[in-house]
Amino acid sequence: MSNQTFPELKNDLFLRALRGEPVERPPVWMMRQAGRYLPQYMELRRKYSFFERVETPELACEITLQPIDELEPDAAIIFSDILTVPQALGIDVQMIPGRGPVMGNRIETEDDAFSVFAEDIAEKLHYVMDAITLTRKELNGRVPLIGFAGAPWTLFCYMVQGEGSKTFDRAKSFLYQYPDASAHLIKELTRATIDYLAAQVAAGAQAVQVFDSWAGLLSPDDFNQWALPSLIEITASVKEVPVILFAKGAWYALERLAFKSGAAALGVDWTLSPEFAREKTAGRVSLQGNFDPSHLLAPPAEIEQMTRRMIDRFGVQGYIANLGHGILPHIPVDHARAFVNAVKEYRSPDSR
Ligand code: CP3
Repeated sequence: MSNQTFPELKNDLFLRALRGEPVERPPVWMMRQAGRYLPQYMELRRKYSFFERVETPELACEITLQPIDELEPDAAIIFSDILTVPQALGIDVQMIPGRGPVMGNRIETEDDAFSVFAEDIAEKLHYVMDAITLTRKELNGRVPLIGFAGAPWTLFCYMVQGEGSKTFDRAKSFLYQYPDASAHLIKELTRATIDYLAAQVAAGAQAVQVFDSWAGLLSPDDFNQWALPSLIEITASVKEVPVILFAKGAWYALERLAFKSGAAALGVDWTLSPEFAREKTAGRVSLQGNFDPSHLLAPPAEIEQMTRRMIDRFGVQGYIANLGHGILPHIPVDHARAFVNAVKEYRSPDSR
């Protein structure tokens, strides 16, 4: 367990669902639940730059707690970003409002890739661990705290592309042109992620999620070669807390992830049905998802109905209600609340 003592956990619904233990109702949280749809987040966003918010433990803690105070979901996720790891590996990352992340020195050549080495990641990212420890204390046991990291393939995408993209064409071209240099980079990113997650757990993270946001860009064979081995290695390295793997768009890999990854839960996006996900994973893992984030624009009564229907289809056990990707910036807070409350008030169809 972690190196410190923290207040006793009062709501363990999320951890029970991850361990596949019986629950009265599914736990609920939302990816990107600390974000631009919250007026209190926008207030801090006007005062501090993105990485000031990420790198100042008091600010990261305050932002992590905002959705907990506002919506009372069953888990908190530390406010940070997956791009802290590329930064620790020497990539200059700017977050440009309206444009997203931009790297000043992207990986362009084979030599650039071969010169990346994962060293002292936990020391370089100590502010994330400080934020986790502080947030565990401030949460006072209300709900568990989730740590996270980007998967090596997704980090590779940003480091080689140098910015966000729909296709990550430069990253994919690099992969096929320079397989040895790509393998080196993926290996170092895997090492960095293992060290980073171990440090997060030691600092107090009670579960970790690995975001492979761009897994869906790969063919099944390429996923097996370039993404799956590092996901397996990372998951196996996390000994003390459950791991959630979210390989967005990789519906074709669900079965392999369920049987081979060792994850406690798999995140699923909204492009697949609950029945498909349950069939492919055959009770081997818990599932998390998969409400279409843009459905949160529907009227609250409809959100509630769609949420109940989603739970009916996934089933109550071994399930964590969540969105199928991050919440969008223009969602009214009351609509997010309708989603969270519909899960918390869920009754099985025969007792409704
Ligand atoms: O979920 C949470 O509340 C925790 C915080 C969190 C953030 N980023 C904060 C953030 C988490 C878990 C992430 C993960 C992340 N970051 C991913 C994987 C998840 C996913 O969405 O696929 C990725 C790909 C990134 C990289 C990233 N960070 C991009 C592409 C962007 C710009 C796009 C955008 O949404 O603005 C960010 C910025 C970012 N990270 C914001 C937040 C709240 C918005 C920054 C702002 O404008 O204030």
